[in-house]
Amino acid sequence: MENTIEKKVLLSGIQPSGDLHLGNYLGAIRNWARLADEFDCYFFMADMHTITVRQDPPTLRRHTLQQLAQYIACGLDPQRNTLFIQSHVHEHAELAWVLGCYTMFGELSRMTQFKDKSSKHSENINAGLFTYPALMAADILLYQPDYVPVGEDQKQHCELTRDIAQRFNNLYGEVFKVPEPYIPKVGARIMSLTDPASKMSKSDAAGCVFLLDKPEDIMRKFKKAVTDSDTERCVRYDPQTKPGVANLMSIYASCTGRTFDEIEAEFEGKGYGVFKPAVGEAVAETLRPIREESERIMKDKAYLESVYRDGAERASRTARRTLNKVYKKVGFVAK
Ligand code: TRP
Repeated sequence: MENTIEKKVLLSGIQPSGDLHLGNYLGAIRNWARLADEFDCYFFMADMHTITVRQDPPTLRRHTLQQLAQYIACGLDPQRNTLFIQSHVHEHAELAWVLGCYTMFGELSRMTQFKDKSSKHSENINAGLFTYPALMAADILLYQPDYVPVGEDQKQHCELTRDIAQRFNNLYGEVFKVPEPYIPKVGARIMSLTDPASKMSKSDAAGCVFLLDKPEDIMRKFKKAVTDSDTERCVRYDPQTKPGVANLMSIYASCTGRTFDEIEAEFEGKGYGVFKPAVGEAVAETLRPIREESERIMKDKAYLESVYRDGAERASRTARRTLNKVYKKVGFVAK
């Protein structure tokens, strides 16, 4: 194990909602693998968060393990990163209770995700859905991270985490590090193959390429990809007037390392009938080792178990230190 003492700490949680797709991979996960050079990284499967919405228990269990396997296959090395399952580290639930007592009703009521989800699941507006940001603050603050990489949709929760940390520190002294959002330098924004105006999403299966898709499925999806309706019919990077082609070019560039100029030259005088299968093939080749490795890991239960057990043990050591400090500060009697 390498010496991580001087490294800054980075942490992120991922809801195990099942299938990861090309947009997740090219836009984020692929870059996370490189973060371990610079940071002491914690990544966890946020299974506790998922039950704010009803889940099928066997499916949740399978998704959690499948997602962990896929992260490893994407290059997150369990030796160099702390990979774990949230519910295995009980300090998350314990700190969430304490932080809930330092989070205001008004603050939680203003969270846009709560408003969205409660209108979407109006038959199940449970307390967990409401207090979810206090659990997320606990997830983060337990590990004293410097950075939390988050997408647009989680910015408000990170802001609230900072407010909670500052409020607690103002009362009790410097207990928590106040984390910064981490904005990655690179990361492609991959759009749907059938609707290049919206982000690739698993809810639109035809426009979405999953990491575990077989090569023939990938080829079929790319052959059907939307290009553009202009009469030019050539491969040219112009996201304004040719968003479909621009998206395919971004995907091709991310998979092959080529520039847009090089891609335009490569397909000069050739139509979309040549371009689209070429993108499909590049994607199939990029994903092949990931799919094979995920499948191999999923079959190796003993290995997967050793990864999440070891990860939870390492995570607990750090988490316990923070929780003990917090319990002492708020006035609980030491055991
Ligand atoms: N709420 C995040 C999401 O829905 C997942 C998450 C849970 C998370 N805990 C976290 C992200 C801590 C970053 C840090 O995507």
